[in-house]
Amino acid sequence: MTEPVSLPTQNPHLLEWVDQVKRMTRPDDLVWCDGSEEEYQKMARLMVDTGTAVWLNPEKRPNSLLIRSDPADVARVEGSTYICSEREEDAGPTNNWRDPVEMKAVLREFYDGCMVGRTLYVIPYSMGPIGSPIAKIGFILTDSPYVVANMHIMARVGTAVLEVLGNRPEFVRGIHSVGYPLTGAKQADLPWPCNAENKYITHFPETREIWSYGSGYGGNALLGKKCHALRIASVQARDEGWMAEHMLILKLTSPEGAVRYVAAAFPSACGKTNLAMLTPTIPGWKVETIGDDIAWMKFGEDGRLYAINPEAGFFGVAPGTSMESNPNALKSVDSNAIFTNCALTLDGDVWWEDMGVDAEELTDWLRRPWTPESGRTAAHPNARFTARADQCPVIAEEWEDPAGVPISAIIFGGRRASAQPLITEALSWEHGTFLGSIMASEKTAAAAGTVGELRRDPMAMLPFCGYHMGDYFAHWLKIGEKGGEALPRIFYVNWFRKSDDGRWLWPGFGDNSRVLKWIFQRCEGTAEALPTPLGLTPAEGGLDVEGLELPDEDLEELLSVDKELWLREMDSIREHLATFGDHLPEALNKQANALEARLKSL
Ligand code: OXD
Ligand code: MN
Repeated sequence: MTEPVSLPTQNPHLLEWVDQVKRMTRPDDLVWCDGSEEEYQKMARLMVDTGTAVWLNPEKRPNSLLIRSDPADVARVEGSTYICSEREEDAGPTNNWRDPVEMKAVLREFYDGCMVGRTLYVIPYSMGPIGSPIAKIGFILTDSPYVVANMHIMARVGTAVLEVLGNRPEFVRGIHSVGYPLTGAKQADLPWPCNAENKYITHFPETREIWSYGSGYGGNALLGKKCHALRIASVQARDEGWMAEHMLILKLTSPEGAVRYVAAAFPSACGKTNLAMLTPTIPGWKVETIGDDIAWMKFGEDGRLYAINPEAGFFGVAPGTSMESNPNALKSVDSNAIFTNCALTLDGDVWWEDMGVDAEELTDWLRRPWTPESGRTAAHPNARFTARADQCPVIAEEWEDPAGVPISAIIFGGRRASAQPLITEALSWEHGTFLGSIMASEKTAAAAGTVGELRRDPMAMLPFCGYHMGDYFAHWLKIGEKGGEALPRIFYVNWFRKSDDGRWLWPGFGDNSRVLKWIFQRCEGTAEALPTPLGLTPAEGGLDVEGLELPDEDLEELLSVDKELWLREMDSIREHLATFGDHLPEALNKQANALEARLKSL
């Protein structure tokens, strides 16, 4: 291979693999990314030149780009996402599986010459602070400047990563192509090249490889995030005795200055970023952010679980983000941000639905003129912002501590208009694992399907677990055995409960700090709890509702467990658990039996 003399690494494993990929994809050029500001600006220029991006008005939003994708490439594609473990059984019933040899054969045909006319960028990245014992190194070999620019924000990228790796072979190998070579009739590039018909997001857990083809969008293309930090990392975590979870991490400080760290898992559209950056309504309490999407947790020498945020930025959903719902997220995107599929204002700023700002005339995400009378949304519902974590006004000072932060509590949650109380505490780690395994959210009117229909999304990991979910539950139980008394307590919250006449019973947002306060006090051993069949709830007067106009009946309803409703739900719980077949740990069946017995004795 004829490389420039100044190769930034001598790592033979890396050089050989890069050479193989280069021979397969046949790019015109190859660039080793150094992670510099100059490189970021170069990517921006390239995207502006090809019509992929426009600079926003620097007086409104300095150094920020708006990118509009192809309408055929706007979201993660779960149907085209595969776990290609050697044995089908290891992918489990909730993942698409393909034989790794067959899948690679199919993909090699697509990758053959797929970068002709393009540049292959080699992106060295670290998930987690560079050099942290919890961090992991990976590479993305991509033909997308959008991926390079976003990875600069979302991960630690560049030459420093190569230095830490040295000549070791332990790195995750990611290949990514938009699947649109510039050849034949396609000499001219498109603003958003992709391959609308053929998209493959494939994972090879045993060899720690990710092969992604055809999509340039977020989770399909920024391989450090869902592909590496969750799907591959969950397998690494199983093998090495730690946890890779779809969880935010927050720091909670009491008025007395005591600190507890909390991790929380919620399915999409349940407010994870909002909780991570919450502004408490109760005096003296403070929430600061460590991460908003992913937590890697390892046992420390003191036997406690320590978490790091493997990411360096936020890839958040823009619509719905306002000064009311999440001022800190909005401030994080004041400058140096990338926006994807938002609308453009006449004065060169971005706009989206429920931003809290009125709009008269816009260019919508499909580059068409838009007014409020247009009868369609101006931003795509999955429009995103990419923001540097260190621009968040409430980022905790220790967010990059290589040792991580000790987790006191894990919260699970979902969106349920009925059934699930505002807050319950699990009776034990095993019971908490059970509650996580049956986590459920109701479909809203906005989504296809019957309103109120439950989708079970265990630990919010359904689309992100890189192996059999039954084995994943067993791994949780194993962590429980190892961690013993030093483990975090597990809680389950539901901010979305409604009254019979359809009113929200709980105000949510900043008032969720009241629930965090109770969790904090449970960890300190200073709050009383009452048993219910689902777990422990606050004793009378235990939840701080001072200053809230919350009628006693509403509070009672928020904390109540409806025996008949839950007894009816037992069938759906058992049916769900049965999908994991003989990989389901018996302990979870026993927990289901115990729940039923507690309900019957109510
Ligand atoms: C995300 C997701 O983008 O969970 O974080 O889909
Ligand atoms: Mn997520």
